[in-house]
Amino acid sequence: MPIFTHDRQFHLQGQDVSYIIRLLENGQLEQTYFGKRVSDRADFSGLAPMPNEPLGNANFPLKNSGFTLEWARQEYPSYGTSDFREPAIELEEKQGSRLSHFIYHDYQVIKGKPELNGMPAVYGGAEECETLQITLKDAVLEAELTLFYTVFHQRNVIIRRCELNNTGTEPFSIHRLMSASIDLPDHNYESIQLDGAWIRERHLHRSKLKPGLHVIDSKKGVSSSSHNPFLALARPNTSENEGEVIGLNLIYSGNFRGSVEVDTYDTTRIMMGINPAGFKWELVPEDTFYTPEAVFVYSANGLNNMSQSFHSLYQNHLIRGQWKNKERPVLLNNWEATYFTFNHKKISDLASSASELGVELFVLDDGWFEGRNDDTTSLGDWTADKKKLPEGLKVLADDVRSRSVSFGIWVEPEMVSQKSRLYQQHPDWVLKAPHRPHTRGRNQMVLDLGKTEVQDYIIEAISRVLRESQASYVKWDMNRTVTEVYSDVLPASRQGEVMHRYIVGLYRVLEEITSSFPSVLFESCASGGNRFDPGMLYYMPQTWTSDNTDAVERLKIQYGTSLVYPISSIGAHVSASPNHQTGRVTPIDFRFHAAMFGAFGYELDPQEMDDHIRKVVAEQISLVKKERALLQFGDFYRLISPFEGNDTAWMTVSQDRSEALLAFYRMLSQPNAGLKRIKLSGLDADKTYEVEWQEGSNRRHRQYGGDELMNIGWQIPPFFTGTVKTGNTHFYGDFQSAVWKFKECTKG
Ligand code: DGJ
Repeated sequence: MPIFTHDRQFHLQGQDVSYIIRLLENGQLEQTYFGKRVSDRADFSGLAPMPNEPLGNANFPLKNSGFTLEWARQEYPSYGTSDFREPAIELEEKQGSRLSHFIYHDYQVIKGKPELNGMPAVYGGAEECETLQITLKDAVLEAELTLFYTVFHQRNVIIRRCELNNTGTEPFSIHRLMSASIDLPDHNYESIQLDGAWIRERHLHRSKLKPGLHVIDSKKGVSSSSHNPFLALARPNTSENEGEVIGLNLIYSGNFRGSVEVDTYDTTRIMMGINPAGFKWELVPEDTFYTPEAVFVYSANGLNNMSQSFHSLYQNHLIRGQWKNKERPVLLNNWEATYFTFNHKKISDLASSASELGVELFVLDDGWFEGRNDDTTSLGDWTADKKKLPEGLKVLADDVRSRSVSFGIWVEPEMVSQKSRLYQQHPDWVLKAPHRPHTRGRNQMVLDLGKTEVQDYIIEAISRVLRESQASYVKWDMNRTVTEVYSDVLPASRQGEVMHRYIVGLYRVLEEITSSFPSVLFESCASGGNRFDPGMLYYMPQTWTSDNTDAVERLKIQYGTSLVYPISSIGAHVSASPNHQTGRVTPIDFRFHAAMFGAFGYELDPQEMDDHIRKVVAEQISLVKKERALLQFGDFYRLISPFEGNDTAWMTVSQDRSEALLAFYRMLSQPNAGLKRIKLSGLDADKTYEVEWQEGSNRRHRQYGGDELMNIGWQIPPFFTGTVKTGNTHFYGDFQSAVWKFKECTKG
């Protein structure tokens, strides 16, 4: 039984996690405990904080009790009373007061997990999970707040969100309604976050908590590459395989705010939700506001275990549709091969040579529609360019398919160019503020997806492209951030709603299109990884990770991304050398070994390859086809961090632990380097594994016990250390890498 209820107490119990809530003296909820699983007891009141002495000026008015919210650990803290930390809720009633006081009303336990209408959410059946619903009421505001908690029997996750319902007769405004907040009893943590910029996404940063408020957020209209909507709190000694960590991720694709606050009493409050900056929602009587969901993961066994919990939850209970557990096709995308300069013949030649190499899907990127010869025009007009593709999209797509590859297409539906028919017809469909300059980003404007007619136009236009081309794959791009957030359909009092209405509108569009084309594989993109979040993964099972295809940079980006997101969702392509973003020259093997751990493809012109490289690439593709179940859906373990030195290593292990692939990357060559031993992870200690490797012209193989490999380590063959060319020093120069397969030896 994962949810235990007692008088004034609730205990959610997952596989190895407990989450306990109690009622405080004043009727609000206490966050009693979140951490390693404990047995249920009828009374956990002994876990409440014990202050040294009554606090003078912060007593909540309960008779002589000395009770104050200032040190109470709270489940859903509100603004303006005796708690001076970050609030989760801030409302404004008609008279202007921003106070609220939600006290316990009742609860319900539901088998399974109720749907979150119109928003992406984790799903789970009655056999897998249970949901606790606690309702609180504020008598003055006449409002009802319902907190939802889902716990999975066999997982270490707690999913939280809330709904706020106006049960009165007067409207009030929501300034802040976070998805979740937790108070932890101490501050002995390090925070981990994923930050960056365009072509430098999701770099890992770890720092010790300090007193005060630490915030990550996005005000960009997308979840953004500045900060991913993810925060973790790890104990200082927590490593990839050991130690305690709590991870928090928001299932939302727009403006968010995550914060960690260490207060005067050395306790820690962590919360996440829609960013209150620029947000204000008018809640009219009988209306309800739904927050996005927040996912908490608890791991007692390090960061790899936390990541695997996120991966497995998202793989099995977030990603939907026919591609959910399906191996992803090897694709070739023409963007870096041609940019905007191509015609029918070039595309069909590219498809043809890609097909000869074993590529399964050809993706036609930007530049295929009316007059789109650079990035200044045509977004919004989704019909084929007559000069480049005189016979139209269908003929081109059929031609591509006749080369034995399927056809995929790029679109950027949320945008419009000033030079477009769509803008001429509907200049009022864009987000822009009255009497203010109107910012362009990549020369384009953002459509107001809060408007139903805009949503309908996008659904119709993109459906037409898909029907006409019979595309089996779509790359859904979004190449600017959102500014001048103002919508002419909303009254002045509701302008704070525009950004959230945009996201909810986008979700409606995505739901309609993805469910109308269930066999199509969708990949989301936002100038690469500007919107890599679980909200998008609910609709589209993979994301173009970064516009940076340099393998050295990709190791960092993919390493960081793997903290939260499944490997099958991480779009990763081999591109040309010198690389187009960094100018760096790297060997084809190194580029391949970086990209193969993801939704794999190429982003180059195969016609420019010499015969040797063509042969190498054909072998790479057949290797990926053979191993992609393991590469994309195995249990992923990070071993050596690219953020800490010259080497990187990671591995993937099959669920039955009978096979594993280990990858090792060395950035700069090291003359006469020391011996290197890597401790592997995730193997079966009792199994014996065989590994084969190439040493110069010799093929070698050897057997090791799983415990040997994990406790003592695998010594990497000496070819990374050579300075003199002999038969044993096969690889030279910078950017060397290798991938080894460990396979269980069959008995007998
Ligand atoms: C940004 C994407 O990330 C690129 O891969 C490419 O599709 C361009 N947009 C096309 O404009």
